[in-house]
This record gives sequence, structure tokens and C-alpha cells, in this order.
Amino acid sequence: ATPATFFEAVGGEPTFRRLVEVFYSGISDDPLLRPMYPEADLGPATERMTLFLMQYWGGPNTYSAQRGHPRLRMRHAPFRIGVAERDAWLRHMRHAVDSLGLPADQHAMLWDYLERAAHFMVNAPE
Ligand code: HEM
Repeated sequence: ATPATFFEAVGGEPTFRRLVEVFYSGISDDPLLRPMYPEADLGPATERMTLFLMQYWGGPNTYSAQRGHPRLRMRHAPFRIGVAERDAWLRHMRHAVDSLGLPADQHAMLWDYLERAAHFMVNAPE
């Protein structure tokens, strides 16, 4: 049967877990971005991002059950996100999306969303 959601079409939860694992392994040694994240452990941040993306693409609504409405711009307000931070974030995310080896149409859909969302999150333009 044809998958009902993009979440299912790309392979469901394991695909999103892999994506966010690769992304956060990049964040973990990024000198610009790592200091913005909780010092001790990136595990909880990894879980929040994974659940958010699963929900966004039509998977289970666990993110909102745990965290409420995403309100992502508001949740990023405590962090200074300029063009340099955005571009560093996108570099790690691009590497993570590429690592999935998705078919071109799915790759483009996922990447276009992430790129647009990252531009929208900038709150400290130069
Ligand atoms: C949380 C940085 C863009 C989704 C966070 C946190 C930081 C951060 C420092 C707190 C970590 C934590 O959860 O403890 C950035 C930077 C971005 C960016 C520098 C550059 C543009 C994005 C984008 C998305 C996103 C584009 C979505 C597509 C999230 C989510 C959380 C989060 C879901 C957890 C929110 C919560 O439930 O508290 N981000 N972020 N971020 N970010 Fe970003």
C-alpha cells in the first residue's frame, strides 16, 4: 500500500532517529554551537528534536504530548541565532540528511523544509 504520510514513506521512526543522531554528533564538536546546548548531555535535546520532526512529518504526536505546542521561534528566543549560527546548524543538518541516502524527491522535501525553518529561526540578523 502507498504510505499515508511522509513519516512512513521515509521509513518511520528509525529514519528520524538516524537523522538526528548524525546531526547531534556534528553539534557535539562544533565550537560555535555546542556551547548553546545543555552542558552535560545532548541526549534530551536529541530526543526533543527527534520527536518534533517525527510529529511534523505525520508520525505520532508524542512531542506535543510531552512539550505542548512547538512554538519554535519562541523556544529559540533565549539563544542568539545569527547568520553564522544558522549556517553552522544547516551544515550539520545537510550532512545528516545526505547520510540517509533518501530518493531525490524525499531528500528535496526534507531539506527544503529544514532550510526554510532554519532561516525562520534567525533572531539576531547582523
Ligand atoms: C531546541 C539551537 C534551528 C528545532 C534548541 C536548543 C538550541 C537550539 C540551543 C536547546 C536544546 C534543547 O532542546 O535543550 C538552534 C539553532 C538553530 C536551530 C542554533 C539554527 C537555525 C532549529 C530548527 C528546528 C529546530 C530549524 C526545526 C526544524 C528545535 C526543537 C528544539 C530545539 C524541536 C526543542 C524544543 C523544546 O521542546 O524545548 N535549538 N536551533 N531548531 N530546536 Fe533548535
